[in-house]
Amino acid sequence: MAAKTIVALWVAACALLLLHCSSLSGVNGIGVNYGMIGSDLPSPDKVVALYKSNNITDVRLFHPDTSVLEALRGSGLGVVLGTLNEDLHALASDASFAASWVQSYVQPFAGSVNFSYINAGNEVIPGEAAALVLPAMQNLEAALQAAGLSVPVTTAVATSVLGSSYPPSQGAFSEASLPSVGPIVSFLASRGTPLLVNVYPYFAYSADPSSVPLDYALLSSSAAVAVTDNGAEYANLFDAILDAVYAAVEKAGGGASMELVVSETGWPSGGGGYGASVENAAAYVNNLVRHVGRGTPRRPGKAVKTYIFAIFNENQKPEGVEQHFGLFQPDMSEVYHVDFSAASS
Ligand SMILES: *[C@@H]1O[C@H](CO)[C@@H](O)[C@H](O)[C@H]1NC(C)=O
Ligand SMILES: *[C@@H]1O[C@H](CO)[C@@H](O)[C@H](O)[C@H]1NC(C)=O
Repeated sequence: MAAKTIVALWVAACALLLLHCSSLSGVNGIGVNYGMIGSDLPSPDKVVALYKSNNITDVRLFHPDTSVLEALRGSGLGVVLGTLNEDLHALASDASFAASWVQSYVQPFAGSVNFSYINAGNEVIPGEAAALVLPAMQNLEAALQAAGLSVPVTTAVATSVLGSSYPPSQGAFSEASLPSVGPIVSFLASRGTPLLVNVYPYFAYSADPSSVPLDYALLSSSAAVAVTDNGAEYANLFDAILDAVYAAVEKAGGGASMELVVSETGWPSGGGGYGASVENAAAYVNNLVRHVGRGTPRRPGKAVKTYIFAIFNENQKPEGVEQHFGLFQPDMSEVYHVDFSAASS
């Protein structure tokens, strides 16, 4: 009763004072992907301490690693746990494999690790493994339920699932993606679970810098409106891409309330790509941290839960920009400073 009254007063105060009431919804903290394709990365306990000391609230793991999960115990960090794409076939075709996956990586940690989502596969749609994703999700969900765990199951897609993305309201899944992503959207919508999407304005910019203004790609507050779409005004490419995915999800039957989570976004600080620099990376990530709590023109005021790619520069990724998406060097010094506490202010 008292708690309800406090919540009601808080909501009223938010409405009256136009506060950003992120602490009520709890979706405003920023996550960072913990990639491990490097020969020189610090131990998991040091990495978890690095997240905590920088006010990073969430982590996404690309594959289950019990030493990392051990380090996450009691950390309070929200954890998105991915499956290996190589495991999708077994997860989809063998319910007992899904059960043992849950028994190995989720159940022993569930009491002290704060799992937000399990994602079955990363960027496999469209492609040969696309048809495995939904059955893998179904088997994982059944295994979690059997273990008495209520962690939502989803998948992470790249924006290559779109056949059309411009203007944003015309966003639609491609013919190649729709047969697999359409039923996934229905599955997620019926459970109120978000679809995870990886969003990279950098690659759109670097592929075509003469038609994409840099400040539009960097979410600069000084950027001019570059796209007007049915009255919606876009001054940054991140929102334009995200709204194209929202439009696609709606056309596929996801409804206007289905959420998207940005499971990856980032900007390289080096590696030779066009526009890859420390200055641009610092601008993009800091602008993003301040921006995502505001939502997009299609979902104004609806904070977008966002995970930056990635915590470290990874020296065993392909040469070039791929090795330079890190916020930190492997020795834990900053590549550039990010003020994560700005997410909630
Ligand atoms: C983390 O947040 C706390 C409380 O808001 C603040 O005092 C501290 O300076 C922040 N640390 C960093 C590294 O931003
Ligand atoms: C778990 O993580 C979510 C997402 O960051 C957060 O909102 C929630 O407060 C966390 N819960 C606990 C008990 O730490």
